Amino acid sequence: MDRKRVTIPQLTEWKKNQRKITALTAYDYTFARLLDESGIDVILVGDSAGMVAMGYENTLPVTMDEMIHYTRGVRRGVQQALLVGDMPFMSYHTSAEDTIRNAGRFIQEGGAEAVKMEGGSRVLDKISAVIQAGISVMGHVGLTPQSVHQFGGYRVQGKNYLDARQIKKDGLDLQKAGVFSLVLEGIPMDLAAEITAELEIPTIGIGAGPYCDGQILVTQDMLGMNLDFAPKFVKKYGELGTTIRSAVQDYVDEVQSGGFPDEAHS
Ligand code: KIV
Repeated sequence: MDRKRVTIPQLTEWKKNQRKITALTAYDYTFARLLDESGIDVILVGDSAGMVAMGYENTLPVTMDEMIHYTRGVRRGVQQALLVGDMPFMSYHTSAEDTIRNAGRFIQEGGAEAVKMEGGSRVLDKISAVIQAGISVMGHVGLTPQSVHQFGGYRVQGKNYLDARQIKKDGLDLQKAGVFSLVLEGIPMDLAAEITAELEIPTIGIGAGPYCDGQILVTQDMLGMNLDFAPKFVKKYGELGTTIRSAVQDYVDEVQSGGFPDEAHS
């Protein structure tokens, strides 16, 4: 396995060579270190932290200060992977000046190498401003969770002709603006395949089928830690939720029965 630090130009190279890109989310040092040591290419400090780490109903309440806090922890655990910080709701919606300042915080305070921003044409000017300021941006189109209320829930996007054309146009516009990769979330796999074939930058899919240049999942979902969340696109590579519960129950039983600490652990 290539254990050199992953760079942005390398992702484009991997697309050309048809080498799939692997990405997962992290919100703290311990998980980041485990992912990094396992050879993951890209670690995203996602605003999914709002749901996974904070228990919010959606990602909308997440603040810049919270995201910087998570990114700083993750940074310390990452040696090889490309570290991307996710710009939260309202951090890139008011002015270009605010947007650049917030993106800059991910780099200066969080230690990220790039930021991710949701949306297409509507936020193109803000994305361009960040890129012009010298900060690399990962785009994100399709089912963009920060627009959950506008979508009326977490629904697959791009199912009708006009929506599909708009998503594809957004992807092309974002590439033109200079994003280095594009997350395609919750869109039909044929549309994801079409966009992937058309773009020179790599696409990273989540709930978008197998034809993207890479894949991303929320780590806690793919490890089976979120016991009551099982969407179709998540494959569980572990049952850590069950493992953790069982270990904690053993601990509770042993402390209560006097089995822990025994001599060996005293
Ligand atoms: O916030 C997040 O974790 C994300 C990824 C799942 C793409 O946006």
